[in-house]
Amino acid sequence: MTKPKVLITRRWPDSVEQKLQQLFDVSLNLDDHPMSAQELSAALQEYDAVCPSVCDSLPAEIINTPNKRCRILGNFGVGYNHIDVNAAREQGIAVSNTPGVLTESTADIAMTLLLMSARRGAEGDRLVRSGGCSGWCPTQMMSSDVTGATLGLIGFGRIAQAMARKAHFGFGMRILFYKPTPADPEDISRYHAQACASLEELLPQCDYVSLHCPGGADTRHIINARTLSLMKPSAHLINSARGDVVDSQALIDALTAGKIAGAGLDVYENEPRLHPGFLALENVTLLPHLGSATIATRTAMGEKVLANLQAFFTGQPLPDRVA
Ligand code: DGY
Repeated sequence: MTKPKVLITRRWPDSVEQKLQQLFDVSLNLDDHPMSAQELSAALQEYDAVCPSVCDSLPAEIINTPNKRCRILGNFGVGYNHIDVNAAREQGIAVSNTPGVLTESTADIAMTLLLMSARRGAEGDRLVRSGGCSGWCPTQMMSSDVTGATLGLIGFGRIAQAMARKAHFGFGMRILFYKPTPADPEDISRYHAQACASLEELLPQCDYVSLHCPGGADTRHIINARTLSLMKPSAHLINSARGDVVDSQALIDALTAGKIAGAGLDVYENEPRLHPGFLALENVTLLPHLGSATIATRTAMGEKVLANLQAFFTGQPLPDRVA
């Protein structure tokens, strides 16, 4: 029996690539270059399955490529706002994602950013490396406490709740959250959390605000000049969700004018390009989208895609279907 033709658009951990090669007729992107729109479009005509990740933009114009062979997009990642799932549905292409396996590592990166921003970690590292550190003194690089402070979560899904657990039980933080739909009361009481009815209620109360909502049209620029102005001047904003949730220019203006104290970012609008205004600021910590970047997590993500492809090509229901 001929094996389904599968394209993996970027390099994955070796162990998963090997397993995939045993099951399918796999093409790897050996030099790991970001694929162009033309390459992705051609891939839809050539392969039964295409396995993209967050760096592959698949809008309707690409999904609607004529003479397609592709029947499933096995996304390597939980977020899928880079794929027009409505277009995929209309074109009869299934889409799966990788929920559950990157919860802890992504919440760990959010907590890393929160601690780095609060305690000026990246700035301190730059100071030491530049030779500008003249030794300890009582007023050097004073910063803000994390332990006992109030954390506001925007979104209250798996990753937000992992963040709530680490922050509440690890750092004694008070947890508030805003989510447009009602949350499960058991989840709320587990972290002694408090639901807020709006961003207007949440933001003024928080020392730290961490974003855990999906990207896309509904959440685009929910952090903007107006909502930033509701935050305390001493507050820090953490984004490990999606870049377009935050209006970059508004955040740069707020950080420059001291309207908020700091920010920690793992994701950017127009990733991988980021607004050059961030580079000049000391009070923003910048990471290169590392949320799920542990060996165990990236391996588990690959295994999830593999399980979805296996189910699809043996006629079983997809474990993680999003379209
Ligand atoms: C995710 O899974 O959504 C991560 O951000 C990597 O894409």
